[in-house]
Amino acid sequence: MSAQYASNTITPQKQTIMSLQALKQAGEKISCLTAYDATFAGLIQRAGIDVILVGDSLGMVVQGHDSTLRVTLDEMLYHTELVRRGAAESFIIADLTFMSDATPLLAAENAARLIQQGGARMVKLEGAKTETIAYMVDQGIPVCGHLGLLPQRIYQQGEYRVQGKSEQAAEQIISDALALEKAGIQLLILECVPAQLAANISQQLTIPVIGIGAGSECDGQVLVSYDMLGLSLTPPPRFTKNYMQQSASIFDALLAYHDDVKNGRFPTLAESF
Ligand code: KIV
Repeated sequence: MSAQYASNTITPQKQTIMSLQALKQAGEKISCLTAYDATFAGLIQRAGIDVILVGDSLGMVVQGHDSTLRVTLDEMLYHTELVRRGAAESFIIADLTFMSDATPLLAAENAARLIQQGGARMVKLEGAKTETIAYMVDQGIPVCGHLGLLPQRIYQQGEYRVQGKSEQAAEQIISDALALEKAGIQLLILECVPAQLAANISQQLTIPVIGIGAGSECDGQVLVSYDMLGLSLTPPPRFTKNYMQQSASIFDALLAYHDDVKNGRFPTLAESF
């Protein structure tokens, strides 16, 4: 695999929200990985990954906290700028941090900083905050929703666990997803939900749905880059895969992940709920 990829570097495609939408319509899977710095972002872009997410998971994998809650908006801005510097051509989504979206105005102002100063193309916020999202969309801000497991609610939820397992919980996530689409989100991330629920939502929504621990039937897949490179001090979550086990270099691992997502080889049932 290494030699094949070394002589066959993918030319990065400039994605836009319209081209991502077109991938869904064409039935082509969207690949996405997190990045927090310029070098990783540059490699991810060169590997042809469609979307880069500057996730507040940086609080855990870069800063060493036990949750994402301590990441500040200024820190998110700093990391978004680094990622943009390393991946000038990429479609970059940046997370709104805990409480930085507490009111519609605050959310819109912080999103504007991530876009204007950080170079993000879109911002992501957790939960069914339809009023906030409708306000942001009205101001021209591209928004990605995030449902299922909401890491910013970890102290309310108590533990990281699969969401939407009961019929009632699944119906709530479906109705939240439909409400978010109506409010104007243009992408949705679904985290840690049963594969069947994620498949149902992906079919019902017209916008692309990107899953993490959400089975193979989503329109795309995202992983925390540290997890898929085996860079972890704790046992990795079940839904991830260590691509370094089959690759001679980090770049080869990124290419293999992209190839697996595009060809429906990741995730398998073993990485799904
Ligand atoms: O912060 C993050 O990296 C995320 C992904 C887990 C989707 O939100």
